[in-house]
Amino acid sequence: MVSSVTPRVEISPDLATAARSLAERVVSLARSSLEERGRFALALSGGATPETLFRILADEFRDAAPWSEVDFFWADERAVAPHDPRSNYGLAARTWLGPLSTPSERIHRVLGELPSAEEAARVYHSELRQFFAPGANPPTEPLFDLALLGIGPDGHTASLFPGSPLLKNTAGWVGVEPTPTQPPNVPRISVSLATLNRSREILFLVAGKEKRTALSNVLNPRAGQPVAPAAQVRGLDRTAWYVDRFAAGR
Ligand code: 6PG
Repeated sequence: MVSSVTPRVEISPDLATAARSLAERVVSLARSSLEERGRFALALSGGATPETLFRILADEFRDAAPWSEVDFFWADERAVAPHDPRSNYGLAARTWLGPLSTPSERIHRVLGELPSAEEAARVYHSELRQFFAPGANPPTEPLFDLALLGIGPDGHTASLFPGSPLLKNTAGWVGVEPTPTQPPNVPRISVSLATLNRSREILFLVAGKEKRTALSNVLNPRAGQPVAPAAQVRGLDRTAWYVDRFAAGR
C-alpha cells in the first residue's frame, strides 16, 4: 500500500543545516517510538551525504535520545567488508555508532564480507524476519520505524536503481543488485521497495547541485516521464525531504 501522504520538503541554506534539522526529527521519533512502543528500528543508507548527519548526531545530539536502545539496520549495503571505505555500515560505525559505543546486539548489519552478495542477502533476510516476524507469520505491523535515505543523480534510492526487479511488488524483503548503474560498481544488497514502504516514516537527505534534476523529477514528476525509484518511496505515516538550496535549485 502506498500512503497518500504527500511528501514534505524543507529547504536549508546548506547540508549541515539540513542535516541538523533532520537530526532533530530523528531524535523526536526515537524518543516517542521508544516511549510508546519500546522499540525504534532505524534503517540507514550510505553514500557520502549521511556522513554530515551521522557526525552531527554523534556530537550535538549525543545525549538527546537513548541511542543504546535503538536497533540499527541498513536499507542497503555494498558487498564489501565492514572496514572497506565503501561500506555503508563502516561509514556509520566510524562517524556515529562507534563514537557512541553502540551495543553490538543493536547493530543488525548486512554481512557484506560473505563470499557472495546472494548469501549476504539471505542472511540479512533471516535477520530481518527474526527481528520483525519471529513467529514466522507474515508481519502485520510496520517494519522500520524510520528509514533514512538519499537519492542518486539517476533517481535511485537505497540500491533500488531504475528498472530494478526490487521495485516490483513480487520482490521479497531483500535482494541483490548485481550491476548498479552508479559507483561504486560493486554488487549491492538492498531491501525491496515494498519493504521500504513498510516503514512508518521515511526521511531523505539531499544536497548538492548534482542532485537538482533527480530531486525535481521526484518531487515534480512530469507526465509520461518514468517514475524514479525514489519517487515510489512513501512511508506509511510520513515522508519528508531535507534538502539544501543547491539541490533545490534555489
Ligand atoms: C548507497 C546509498 C545510495 C545513496 C545515493 C546518494 O549505498 O550508495 O544507499 O542510495 O543514498 O547513492 O549517495 P551520495 O550521498 O554519495 O550522493
